[in-house]
Amino acid sequence: MREENLSLRAKYNITAMFYDILDYPWERIYREWRPKILGDLRGKVLEAGVGTGRNFQHYHKSVELTGVDLSDVMLRKATKKAKKADCKVELLHDDASVMRLVDSNQYDWIISTFLCCVMPDEFQPMALEQFSRVLKPGGKFRLLEMIYSNNKEIRRRQDFFTSFVEKVYGARFDRKTVQYIEESSELNITSKRFLKDDVYLLIEGVKE
Ligand SMILES: C[S@@+](CC[C@H](N)C(=O)[O-])C[C@H]1O[C@@H](n2cnc3c(N)ncnc32)[C@H](O)[C@@H]1O
Repeated sequence: MREENLSLRAKYNITAMFYDILDYPWERIYREWRPKILGDLRGKVLEAGVGTGRNFQHYHKSVELTGVDLSDVMLRKATKKAKKADCKVELLHDDASVMRLVDSNQYDWIISTFLCCVMPDEFQPMALEQFSRVLKPGGKFRLLEMIYSNNKEIRRRQDFFTSFVEKVYGARFDRKTVQYIEESSELNITSKRFLKDDVYLLIEGVKE
């Protein structure tokens, strides 16, 4: 684990205690999206930043899932949800920008939901390099992130929540994830679309 990520891990080890309750108002919206963005996946899937495992129940039973997270306390919560999942789940305590525990060229899919808005910009190219390393040639990725809106009213609401989301989740609306993927040598974006307003961005792509 990167030393610089120890404070983020410490943050999530505390946030984990009340994450599902605190995030409930947003989760009411997200839980409609999760089956739509996960239900068609097959094969070996690596989910980076699994958190408390909210995605697990939406994977098809044939999926072989590896879940990675920085926070051991979030992973403890995820372990409980893993037991209720239809698919096989293996959980690893690892940093997505290092992936010390993950072998190369073995995944059909990389998934993350609300990881990159949490991950500091300086680590994102490294995480993308790891995504690329562990994906099979032709493997795909699907990332759901939130970004700043161009709509004044929405932006005003985001500004209101900015310090809260950064303090509690380490999340920011101004991460440059799309730019880093475009700069990566092996990952290509095939589609970008918003799930709600111009805020919740679903980025899909492939490893060449
Ligand atoms: C906002 S939560 C999202 C959790 C989950 N994906 C969801 O949709 O509810 C972000 C998660 O990413 C994890 N995380 C942050 N940086 C990470 C990193 N470098 N490697 C692995 N996990 C990381 C945090 O510990 C946290 O569990």
